[in-house]
Amino acid sequence: MKINANFRALKESYLFSTVGAKFTAYQKAHPEKRVIKLSIGDVTRPLAPVVVSAMERAAREMGDAATFRGYGPDATCYAYEPLLEAVRARYARRGIALGSHEIFISDGAKSDLSNLLDLFSAENTVLVPDPVYPVYVDTNIMAGRRILYAAAVRENGFLPLPDAKVHADIVYICSPNNPTGAAYDRAGLQAWVDYAVREDAVILYDAAYEAFIEGGLPHSIFEIEGARECAIEICSFSKTAGFTGIRCGYTVIPDSLKREGVQLCKMFARRQSTKFNGVSYITQMGAAAAFSEEGERQILENIAYYKQNAAKIGAMLDAHGIYYTGGKHSPYIWMQCPKGMTSWEFFDALLERACVVGTPGSGFGKNGEGYFRITAFATKENTAEACRRMGDFLDSL
Ligand code: MLT
Repeated sequence: MKINANFRALKESYLFSTVGAKFTAYQKAHPEKRVIKLSIGDVTRPLAPVVVSAMERAAREMGDAATFRGYGPDATCYAYEPLLEAVRARYARRGIALGSHEIFISDGAKSDLSNLLDLFSAENTVLVPDPVYPVYVDTNIMAGRRILYAAAVRENGFLPLPDAKVHADIVYICSPNNPTGAAYDRAGLQAWVDYAVREDAVILYDAAYEAFIEGGLPHSIFEIEGARECAIEICSFSKTAGFTGIRCGYTVIPDSLKREGVQLCKMFARRQSTKFNGVSYITQMGAAAAFSEEGERQILENIAYYKQNAAKIGAMLDAHGIYYTGGKHSPYIWMQCPKGMTSWEFFDALLERACVVGTPGSGFGKNGEGYFRITAFATKENTAEACRRMGDFLDSL
């Protein structure tokens, strides 16, 4: 037999595994030190009370023969109506009408970003921004697709626009962006939709951080004219409602999105019925509660908490004259490394001298070199302590 040789083209380990291993090794070697982790975007606020109550209620139903459930309904790829209705209502509040057959409930955006690739030939060319969430790159390397990069640099506000001379079949957009925190406005997204329509491409729009958007920026690609004919939106309860451990996400594939005469939502439904058995009833009821009126109020309190952390980190960097972006529409701060340090030099120095861990920008791509990503998802106390330590460290340089 032969293994999938495409795996040979991958980096030895996934970025967040590499960073996590370095953190663990350092902590083991220095048990007396308390290292603060501002690296992977993992939430720390507890679940909203309405979510907990809904999950308790759902667990009790599962413990009663009269209300026990086995597999979810297969007509909707195992999605329960209350969650479909909650997702439809959230989109409707933005003026977007969705049918249940256009919504797919999953165990999270990371899985669906990969699952969706089953719909596309390995011969397609993929366009990703650089720097980029490594999942877009790794999943396509595993499938053997050709990958092109659009430079996301300070000069374009980390928001590349399409280049008419470059053809791609699959275009990844993440807005607000991971790792840079930059968010597209309507004109920027319209340019990408127009490009996709012209090139017969499909946009995979990662909206995992949409709940962090402030003001009038678009939350969904479907706010843009023409997007229903060229885009798929992938979203998650992880960062929106603290579900990184619970696991729940949703993907929207409009029924008007067709390629070679085939509706992609039908293809995906076919894929899911073969390869997926749904998300637990208890989880789905918790997710539905997160998008209720009271749920949205409670989850916004947690988002405001993280934004206060982001503001604190930003103020510390401002006080030291360090350039950064993000933190406004996003939980990530993308800072320039001081004194011309490379990303990994800064990572090592910050760990050694301040006992703070972040994510080296170069791990997200070559344009990330010289940058560093800090997450605002830690507790308020740890963020304040990390800022104090980072500030002292920057003063000492
Ligand atoms: C990140 O730190 O970029 C995210 O936590 C990764 C993810 O959501 O999978």
